[in-house]
Amino acid sequence: MKPIKVGLLGIGTVGSGTFNVLQRNQEEIRRRAGRGIEIAMVADLNVERARELTGGACEVVNDANLVVSHPEIDIVVELIGGYGIAKDLVLKAIANGKHVVTANKALLATHGTEIFAAAQAKGVTVAFEAAVAGGIPIIKALREGLSANRIEWIAGIINGTTNFILSEMRDKGLDFATVLKEAQRLGYAEADPTFDIEGVDAAHKATILSAIAFGIPVQFSKAHVEGITKLQANDIKYAEQLGYRIKLLGIAKRTSAGVELRVHPTLIPAKRLIANVEGAMNAVLVHGDAVGATLYYGKGAGSEPTASAVIADLVDVTRTITADPSSRVPHLAFQPDEMVDLPILPMSEVTTSYYLRVCVVDQPGVMADLTRILADATISIDAVLQKEPNEGENQTDIIILTHETQEKNADAAIAKIEQMPTVLGKVTRIRLENLS
Ligand code: NDP
Ligand code: HSE
Repeated sequence: MKPIKVGLLGIGTVGSGTFNVLQRNQEEIRRRAGRGIEIAMVADLNVERARELTGGACEVVNDANLVVSHPEIDIVVELIGGYGIAKDLVLKAIANGKHVVTANKALLATHGTEIFAAAQAKGVTVAFEAAVAGGIPIIKALREGLSANRIEWIAGIINGTTNFILSEMRDKGLDFATVLKEAQRLGYAEADPTFDIEGVDAAHKATILSAIAFGIPVQFSKAHVEGITKLQANDIKYAEQLGYRIKLLGIAKRTSAGVELRVHPTLIPAKRLIANVEGAMNAVLVHGDAVGATLYYGKGAGSEPTASAVIADLVDVTRTITADPSSRVPHLAFQPDEMVDLPILPMSEVTTSYYLRVCVVDQPGVMADLTRILADATISIDAVLQKEPNEGENQTDIIILTHETQEKNADAAIAKIEQMPTVLGKVTRIRLENLS
C-alpha cells in the first residue's frame, strides 16, 4: 500500500523531534500502522534551518498554505503553536479534507468547538494526544481505556516548566528567573513563558481533559487560572514541615452542582505518589467510578517525548483512514450529539481545603481570634503551626490547615481575618487537596 503523506507545519522543538523519530523508527512504525508514514513536505519560516534538519529528505517551503492545499498530502501536522495562523491553517486543512494532528492545546482549548465541528462535518480526524501531558498517552487512556467509567475527577501536574521550576527551587535553592531560563533552553517552555508560569498552559490542558472526561464542550474562558509567580519560598518550607508538597495542579472535578475546572498551586500530602513527581515530569491522576484511582506518569514536554505522542496520533489516523468516519473514536470521547451542558462552577462554589498563612503580631489572644473567625464561618481546622518570632521581632507566621469548605466561606473568613488589627498584611491562601 502506498505510504501516507504527511505535511509538517513548523519544524521547531516538537517538529524536529517528530521528523527525527519518524525517520529513526520508520520500519517499526510501518509495521504498526500497516503502511509507511512519510513526511513529504515541511513548512517553516526558517527554510534554511528546515532544509538542514531534513537533509533533503522532503520538500521544504516557507508558505504553510502550500502544504494544507497540496493534493498529495493526507495528514497535516500542525506544530506552529498559538491561535493565530495555526487556527487558519488547521481550518483550511480540514476544509481541504485533510486529517490533522496537533500538539496545540492553546488552539484546542479556545477554538476546539469550532475546529471539532468543522472536522466532524468534513469527516476528518483532528488528533491531539501531544496537546496534554506531552508524551503521556492520557487522551487515549481517558477516551478509550477508561470508557467504561463515569470519571469523577482528574488532578494533574500538567505543566513541565512550572514543575521543573518548583523542583529546582526547592532542591537546589536556585532562583525563579534562573530556572525559568533553563526550562526555556531545554525546550519545555511555551513561546510566551508567561503561559507556563501564570497557569494558562495548564488550564488549556485541564480544559481539554474536562471535555473528554465529562462529555462537555471545551470552555477555557470558564477555568479558574492561577500560576506560581506569587508563591513564596516560606510557604514551600512550611508546607514541607506539615507533611505536604506544593504543586501546580490542574483539576477537573464532577460535583452534583456542576464541574470544577481550576488550576492553582495546591498542597498535596507528601506521601502521595503524585507529590513526588519532580522536574519536567508530568503525572495525571484520574478517578473513575469502576477502576478507582489510576496514575499516568512521564515526560510532559520536550522534543522527542512530545514527538512520541504526535507520531502515535499519526499511526492512529493512518489505521482509521479507511474506516467509516461514523465508527471512529469521537474527538471528545462522547458522540457529538451526546454532549451535555454541565455548568462549570464559579470559584466561589468550589469545595476544597486550605493552607492559610497569617502574619500576626505576637501577642496573647491572636490565635483565639483567628480560630473564632474560622469557627463562625463553619470552617474546621485540621492543623496549626505557629512559628517562633525571629530574635528581636514582635511578629510571627501562623499557618492553619483547614478541612474542606466552600471557597466563598474561605473568602469571607479571610476578609475578616485581614481586618484584625493584629494581622499584618494579606493572608496567603493556597488550596489543599488530599487526593484520596
Ligand atoms: P517552536 O517555537 O520550537 O516551533 C514552532 C516552529 O514553527 C518554529 O520553527 C517556527 O519558525 C515555525 N513557524 C512559526 N510560524 C510559522 C508559520 N507561519 N509557518 C510555518 N512555520 C512557522 O515550538 P514547539 O515545537 O515548542 O511547539 C509547537 C507546538 O507544540 C505548540 O503548540 C506547543 O504548545 C506544543 N507543545 C510543545 C511542547 C514542548 O515541549 N515544546 C510539548 C507539548 C506541546 P521560527 O522559529 O522561524 O519562528
Ligand atoms: N510548556 C509546556 C510545559 C510544554 O512546560 O509543560 C508541554 O505542553
